[in-house]
Amino acid sequence: MPTRPLLILATRNAHKTEEIRHILGDQFEVLDVTSFPDLPEIEETGTTFLENARLKALGISRHIDGWVLADDSGLEVDALGGAPGVWSSSFGGEEGNHAKNNERLMREMTGITERSARFRCTLVLAKNGVEKDFFTGTVKGRIAESPSGNGGFGYDPLFIPEGHFQTMADLGAVIKSTLSHRAEAIRALVAAIETGNWVSF
Ligand code: IMP
Repeated sequence: MPTRPLLILATRNAHKTEEIRHILGDQFEVLDVTSFPDLPEIEETGTTFLENARLKALGISRHIDGWVLADDSGLEVDALGGAPGVWSSSFGGEEGNHAKNNERLMREMTGITERSARFRCTLVLAKNGVEKDFFTGTVKGRIAESPSGNGGFGYDPLFIPEGHFQTMADLGAVIKSTLSHRAEAIRALVAAIETGNWVSF
């Protein structure tokens, strides 16, 4: 089998890596920064998904040869004015604590009937410290009354995608990989690669 092009994800979130691998199939070899222990930690000081994805993609790609892809993503809830948004991973007060994030979301949504929300994902592709392009994806839905399901990660047990009656965590990996914000952004990335006018892997 010919060697597959290598894509290095600027993330330490094993769930994101797993999902991106699953969506891309076997056309790329996908590693994340946990395979390169000397890479720096990148601080996410931006106020938009694009700013944070750029910080991560460029911050990692300055230190490593080859294609680097960063994912910045989060949940926007209309009744909360778009929160938690770019602060999704620390909404509950502790970075990356999904249980606390979900508890706070449930608390803030108590008694609220307008429960529309969306997940957003922005991907930035970079090589040798230079941004090549960015891609976005969105999935609309609503916040469930109570958590349900074991699949996915983060807010998936509380998010019911439009056109469905179960949470993303109930729907599971196969369905999530067709309809998620991340899947939409990855499809845009693949389409750009296939058009091939700016990138040669
Ligand atoms: P980031 O690592 O700064 O991009 O933060 C992403 C955060 O957004 C995660 O920690 C989750 O809280 C939330 N998030 C992003 N994508 C998903 C998803 O696919 N399902 C559930 N939560 C997500």
